[in-house]
Amino acid sequence: MIIKKVMVIGAGQMGSGIAQVCAMNGYDVTLHDLKAEFVERGITGIRKQLKRQVDKGRITNDEMETFLSRISTSVELKNAENVDIVIEAAVENMEVKKNLFAQLDEFAPEHAILATNTSSLPITEIAAVTKRPEKVIGMHFMNPVPVMKLVEIIRGLATSEDVFISVKNMAESLKKIAVEVNDFPGFVSNRILMPMINEAIYTVYEGVASPKDVDEVMRLGMNHPMGPLTLADFIGLDTCLYIMETLHEGFGDDKYRPCPLLRKYVKAGWLGKKSGRGFYTYE
Ligand code: CAA
Ligand code: NAD
Repeated sequence: MIIKKVMVIGAGQMGSGIAQVCAMNGYDVTLHDLKAEFVERGITGIRKQLKRQVDKGRITNDEMETFLSRISTSVELKNAENVDIVIEAAVENMEVKKNLFAQLDEFAPEHAILATNTSSLPITEIAAVTKRPEKVIGMHFMNPVPVMKLVEIIRGLATSEDVFISVKNMAESLKKIAVEVNDFPGFVSNRILMPMINEAIYTVYEGVASPKDVDEVMRLGMNHPMGPLTLADFIGLDTCLYIMETLHEGFGDDKYRPCPLLRKYVKAGWLGKKSGRGFYTYE
């Protein structure tokens, strides 16, 4: 199946990154969020990223304008009516995603694929609220999307082979490397990454070391590009908590219990870089 028109739901850090990469690789993109100001914030972020590429001499100003002209904005889900694929990147919450998929199933054309960028939630359960579970699939990009090579692809129980191949081809057309994994909580990426981040938070909670020292140990001792607490702030502490809750509930094993300090920060609105404060503070 030929994919040309993409709708991205959620203009946060992942949605805007996905929209940027799609536009840079020739797709027509509709970037959707709940409010016009949220979409505008996403577009401003994309412009800033592209401008940086222009300043580094990697793309021309004209190319930047061409990429931006491929992105239109939306606050109405009915704008899904002429797309070939929807990539949902709204908040990591099952009820929100089910609600969105039920509506997208009504609005999107029959042939359209409904993909989700969920970090951890079961694809099969999301697919079950639609009348097209064979066209629902997980397409899990990594943050920051323009830089990271991996896309995890996750089939739900009913996902068709054609849909899998189309989505794999699309990921490759975005110059990403697709790895297929099975539909279990957290897939592979977050089943391994998030318990490490949670353990780093426990290390701070139990007074073993400060956030800066925990990060220093992992950066200098294990050659990680970012320490786990810097990475948690970068991902978003709300997203980290949602993922830990999904692992905890999905596997029922206490080893996935979210650290109380993570819960406390999220309750305080300390969501990391995006809110200006998490384990560190940001301008
Ligand atoms: N958006 C776009 N590009 C960005 C960026 C952003 N937010 N941040 C950095 N970059 C680009 C820079 O422009 C630079 O590009 P060039 O080399 O082409 O000039 C490149 O990335 C390197 O950036 P810097 O030199 O400024 O900084 P760095 O060397 O420290 O790299 C990093 C930044 C790539 C983010 C690196 O720190 C890193 O790899 N961190 C770990 C990221 C990671 O683990 N991501 C996965 C998170 S988990 C996830 O995504 C799954 C989930 O479901 C939660
Ligand atoms: P974010 O908080 O930066 O952005 C989420 C956006 O979704 C916001 O702009 C919000 O207004 C919008 N939104 C919320 N509910 C919506 C709805 N009903 N309809 C339309 N838009 C809605 O979050 P993010 O970091 O971009 O994460 C988005 C998704 O991507 C989550 O499922 C997350 O688990 C996943 N993900 C995140 C990362 C990461 O590192 N942050 C990496 C991979 C995947």
